Amino acid sequence: MTALLEVEGLEVVYGHAIRAIQGVSFRVEEGAIVGLVGLNGAGKTTTIRAISGFLPTEHVRITDGRLRFAGRSILGLRPYETARLGIAVVPEREKVFDTLTVRENLDLAVSAGRALRAGAEAHAKFHSVEDVFALFPPLAARAEQDAVLLSGGERQMLAIGACLLGAPRLLIVDEASLGLAPLVRRQVLDLLLRLNQKMGLTVLLVDQDVAGVLSIARHGYILENGRVVFDGPSDRLLAHGDVQEFYLGRGNAGERGYRNVKQYRRVRRWH
Ligand SMILES: Nc1ncnc2c1ncn2[C@@H]1O[C@H](COP(=O)(O)OP(=O)(O)OP(=O)(O)O)[C@@H](O)[C@H]1O
Ligand SMILES: [Mg+2]
Repeated sequence: MTALLEVEGLEVVYGHAIRAIQGVSFRVEEGAIVGLVGLNGAGKTTTIRAISGFLPTEHVRITDGRLRFAGRSILGLRPYETARLGIAVVPEREKVFDTLTVRENLDLAVSAGRALRAGAEAHAKFHSVEDVFALFPPLAARAEQDAVLLSGGERQMLAIGACLLGAPRLLIVDEASLGLAPLVRRQVLDLLLRLNQKMGLTVLLVDQDVAGVLSIARHGYILENGRVVFDGPSDRLLAHGDVQEFYLGRGNAGERGYRNVKQYRRVRRWH
């Protein structure tokens, strides 16, 4: 399968000193769901900001690596340029405009999508606010309410719906499950799986919820301290002893210090 997104040897440095990303490589094939998973501070958000062009320009630099999307380099592109190429990001926080209604949020996304696509209309599968309401009935019921009143799951739906109106080739979701109850988290993951299976939408899921992500992803990459320490098909990752022990909590780390054990085992088994 051809890679839609290829990240090779990415390095990102904050403030001339903190090497947040230290040679990260991964690929996302067209039509796949891929997971990039890791704990707090592993470097997930930094990685996708580097891809989408959302790294702040001051105090942070991409010091090495290649970023390719649909066969061309996207290194150093601005956010509107990566969006125009078809990369859409549902951010970790501030996903929607709280003081606008659900419908106004989507109206805005329709206008932005139209401006972005400029000529590529044929690829768009979602054209109107009604298309999004058909996909997410709970949003239709709250169309005229301010977005600030939405539940966590509905906010996530609104953010995903707004992205779809931009006709993305790749949807990147940063922490789809953040702050959501398990049942709602499951619904959001199922929805992303449906979008992938029914519309062929390529999805990069960036998340701490290893079990959830690997339940729908074809392939997963585990990020620790700015490095990919392990990757493989999801079923292989889920069966791996270290993943079971340190990410799924099914191991025998017992009373010992979690991080010490993890570091020791990782060095011993994974390298
Ligand atoms: N603006 C910044 N200035 C300095 N260091 C930063 C900045 N943003 C992130 N970092 C550092 O870069 C590293 C990676 O952070 P990042 O936010 O990418 O991790 P993450 O995997 O998304 O974590 P989380 O799961 O908490 O969202 C961390 O050590 C963090 O402290
Ligand atoms: Mg993050």
